[in-house]
Parts: sequence; structure tokens; C-alpha cells
Amino acid sequence: MGEDAGRGALFREPAGNSARLGDDVAMSAPLGGGYTNEVWFARARRVIPGGVDSPVRSFSSVGGTPITIARGEGPYAYDIEGRRYIDLIQSYGAVILGHADPGVTEAIETAAAAGTTFGTPTPGETLLGEEVVARAPACEMVRFVSSGTEAAMSAVRLARAFTGRDRVIKFEGCYHGHSDGLLARAGSGAARSAPASANSSAGFALWTVDPPEQARPGASPRQVELTTSPEPEPAVPGSPGIPAGHITTTIVVPYNTVPGPEILDETVACVIVEPVAANMGLVPPGEGFLEGLRAACDAAGALLIFDEVITGFRLAYGGASELAGVRADLYCFGKVIGGGLPLAAFGGRQEVMSRLAPEGPVYQAGTLSGNPLATAAGRAVLDQLDRDAYRALSERVRGFCDELGAILDKAGVRASVARSETLCSVFFAAADTILPVRDFEGALGSAVTGIYARFFHLMLEQGIMLAPGPYEAIFVGMSHTEAVLEEVLSAAAWAAERLG
Ligand SMILES: Cc1ncc(COP(=O)(O)O)c(C=O)c1O
Repeated sequence: MGEDAGRGALFREPAGNSARLGDDVAMSAPLGGGYTNEVWFARARRVIPGGVDSPVRSFSSVGGTPITIARGEGPYAYDIEGRRYIDLIQSYGAVILGHADPGVTEAIETAAAAGTTFGTPTPGETLLGEEVVARAPACEMVRFVSSGTEAAMSAVRLARAFTGRDRVIKFEGCYHGHSDGLLARAGSGAARSAPASANSSAGFALWTVDPPEQARPGASPRQVELTTSPEPEPAVPGSPGIPAGHITTTIVVPYNTVPGPEILDETVACVIVEPVAANMGLVPPGEGFLEGLRAACDAAGALLIFDEVITGFRLAYGGASELAGVRADLYCFGKVIGGGLPLAAFGGRQEVMSRLAPEGPVYQAGTLSGNPLATAAGRAVLDQLDRDAYRALSERVRGFCDELGAILDKAGVRASVARSETLCSVFFAAADTILPVRDFEGALGSAVTGIYARFFHLMLEQGIMLAPGPYEAIFVGMSHTEAVLEEVLSAAAWAAERLG
């Protein structure tokens, strides 16, 4: 590919619309009317803290002013100045078919015309539930909620009630939403405020894969025992406002380690994990990690929760669980199953799920849970995603990652491109950073180089929208054709030359 090929095309659409942006016309596009991203963001900041409704959207990790997106179509997003970007955020995985997919749009329109919410059972919940249960291994029942935070929080409550135990084990760099008990050493937007030294593995009894020094692509990690200590440190709250008492039952351990029996004992209700971590960049599970967790949970009588809010029906047809061949007791889903609308779910074994009210005593509820628009959108997405679709996307992402890696290598940029099926990310490295990244320490080490921020801005300059933070995945979806990805790679080559 030519180094500058395609870059000129990215800005072809001028800010030609004369409509004043604001109020009722804000979503018509392409937009202009004199608003710049700076002006609009200043307006947003007056009424919304930090100008964003989720911290990860701010540019605080990379510097500069966030771009405000007015509309999208397929792989493209258009900002309020009318500038076109190739969007690789895709709402952090919630959009897999591309923006404004006609099938999804039609399903939402049809559902909306029939009424947006009733506070009664609606057929769409059952139909989407049947689809989820058919795809996810060992997921026999499902309860719909409105966000991944709710899904994870509710799954943990259910696990505690089912086992009659309190303690929860989570992994550094995994993000399970912002509920009090799970916001400790969390990834994604929360990673920036995490105290660097809190809850390291020192003193824990851990079973781990080979030390990172020996890790290399294709290596088969073996399980080895590290130091032991009967008392793990209590977790440190990931935000002011979380009472220390709300998190004393949370134990945090490094990703890609299997807690030994001194930690994962009969006081532990559940282990919650992203089976492929996608909130500290993309960190796949080491060989034996998920199997080890399954066995350790079984030995302790604890439940295993796979938080597949990102990976569920995004990574592969049946999610990460199917791919790994490891079954969880409970699952959390979100993003893709809502087709870009606010919907999430938790599900699992019937024996566990039937403890939920009203069938059982564990209370959980939501006014908009199972919303008819969201279930219609989710079904319209899943209807288009058969196994062949995931296979094709996985192949495309593999080619993209290979080429991106080669481009960075050729430019002398020290980096590794991580991939698991349809998800990927890039880790930039300092001279002493150990690659590939296997855990949160590694991800933090890559982030502090500051190279991601420079790469981000060089790409943005060329109309490529990456997540404005180093801990997010790159979301290549069904609408990113080979030609679109060629444009991305061409821009990456241009950026890589300027990183050195
Ligand atoms: C793995 C995982 N779990 C839970 C959540 C929380 O989901 P939500 O943002 O819908 O509350 C996220 C969000 O990115 C996530 O990636």
C-alpha cells in the first residue's frame, strides 16, 4: 500500500450543511453550522461533568478535545464539523454490524411504532433469551437488564446467595462495570485512577503460568506455584465514595493466574473474570488459565462467572466460553446483544438462575429491563451473525493484525499486536517492556510509555478513530471491509513513520 494512499479521501465530505446545530437538529448530518468540536464540547461541559457521560470517552488519557459524533453509517462516523472517520471504537463493541445497519434500524423502527415500554412481559425478551441460551454453552436461563454493570453486580449477588458465601475474586485489569464491590484494580476508563501499587499479588498464594520473562507467542505456559500467604490483602476501592467496607470481600489477583487453595477456599462465593480480557488492551488467557479456574472453583465449591459483556457474541458465535471449551456457572452479556441499545443480561445454570425473584428469594429488578426496542435490535443483529460470519471476520482481523504488526516492525516501533479471533489491540513498548502483554502490570507498562497517545492523534489526524485510551480493544466489525482496513493500515504506516 502507498504510504499516503487514501488519506485525502477521508475528509472529502465538507461541513456544508447550513442548519444550526443544536436542539432538535443535532442528529441530522453531515453537520456544520459553524460548530466546532471545541465549541460544542465547551457547551457540553457546562451541563455534563467533564462533558462526557462515561469517562472513557474523554480525551484525558491522550490529550486534546473529544470529537462529538453526530451520525454514523457502516464503518464511518461523522463529527459535528462534518468530518468523516473510520470508526474502530464501534461503541466499545456494542456495534458489530456497523452503524445504522438497515436491518437493525428497521427492527427498532418497527418495535418503536408498537410502543417503547410496557412494564409487562413482551415477546421479544423470550425470543432473544432463546437465542442467547442456544448460543452460550451451559447458559440455560437468562435475565435481561439494561447495562453490563447491572449484569455483573447481579450475577455476583446471585452467586453469593447460591453459595451462602461472601468473598469474590476478581482479576487486575478486568472491568466489570462500576458497582462498588467490583471497582478495584479495574481496567478501561477506571485504570487511570487505579492506585498503581494497590493489590499486587505479593504475598498471595497463586498458581500462575510461566513468569512473563519466558512468555512468548505460541509458548505453552505451565502452571507453577508462587509464594503463599493465608491472608490476601483486602481490595482497595477504585473510586472515592466506595466505603472500604463495601469491598472487604473483594480479592484482586493478577490476570492469567489461578488462585491457589489458600485464596480460593470455601469462603469464596465466586470468581469473576473476563475470559478474554478486553479492558486492559486485549489480553488473551494463557493456556490452561480458564481450565485452571474451572477446576479451582469446582474444588472450592465456588461459582465461576464469565463476564462476556464484550466477548459475548462478539469474539465468536458462542462467545469466549465456547471458544475456550470451558463452561461457566454464570455469564454476563451486554453490548452486542442489545444491538447498540441499552441492554445486557446475566444467565447460567437453571439451578442457580431459579434462585432469582420471583422464582426464588434473590431480589433483582429493572423498569426498562428487556426493553422491546433493545430486544428487537439485539435479535436483528444476532440474526445476521451465523458461524460463517464470525469465521470471515476472524480471518479479516487476523490479516489486519499481521499487516499492522509488520508495519510497526518495519518502522522500528517496538509494539505487539494482540489478537483473539475478532478482537485485537496494540501495545506499544518501552525498551524494558515485556511483550506480549499478559497481565495488568504489562498493560500499565505499555500505557506509561505515552506512545499510544501519539499514535492515537496521528491516526485521528488522518480520519481514523481509535479509542482515546490505551486500555481499549480495536473493534473491527462486519462493516470494515478489506478496502476500509487498507485505509486504516495506510494511515498506520504514515503514523508509524512519525512515531520513531
Ligand atoms: C467486561 C465488561 N463488563 C462489564 C461492563 C460494564 O458494562 P456497562 O458499561 O454496560 O455498564 C463492561 C463495559 O465496558 C465490560 O467491558
